[in-house]
Amino acid sequence: MKATTAIAPVVIALLVAVQGISAQTDTKTVDLSKGSSLIVAYCSPCHDWASDYKSIMDSGVVVPGDSASSQAWVMISSGRMPAQGPAPTSKEKKLIKEWIDAGAVAPKT
Ligand code: HEC
Repeated sequence: MKATTAIAPVVIALLVAVQGISAQTDTKTVDLSKGSSLIVAYCSPCHDWASDYKSIMDSGVVVPGDSASSQAWVMISSGRMPAQGPAPTSKEKKLIKEWIDAGAVAPKT
């Protein structure tokens, strides 16, 4: 009995530490270059500017490093776009925002 009560806090501390590490790895392994392909996937059915990375950037709906000023993000986060059809999941939305805020890098080819 005494041994078990002494070990419990150690086990809890270890679990918390392990969780912290895996949460860190998660954000680091997110492939931000996928942001533009999500916009292509969800927006190109209706918008010519969403056909590829270059046309997205040329259209000005994405302001690199500034999601709040990016018309595309304003429309997605407010739920106005996509107007119809499949919408990005909350995970995919998060990735689009992170992609814009990290500078809207070109997709890896
Ligand atoms: C089913 C068709 C459809 C899809 C899919 C779609 N849109 Fe739209 N979008 C529209 C229509 C129609 C308008 C114009 C009417 C309006 O503003 O609601 C529009 C307008 C816009 C505008 C301009 C708004 C303005 O006031 O000038 C932006 C920016 C936009 N969409 C972004 C997006 C983004 C980002 C996606 C992908 C997540 C997307 N749209 C997907 C149909 C669509």
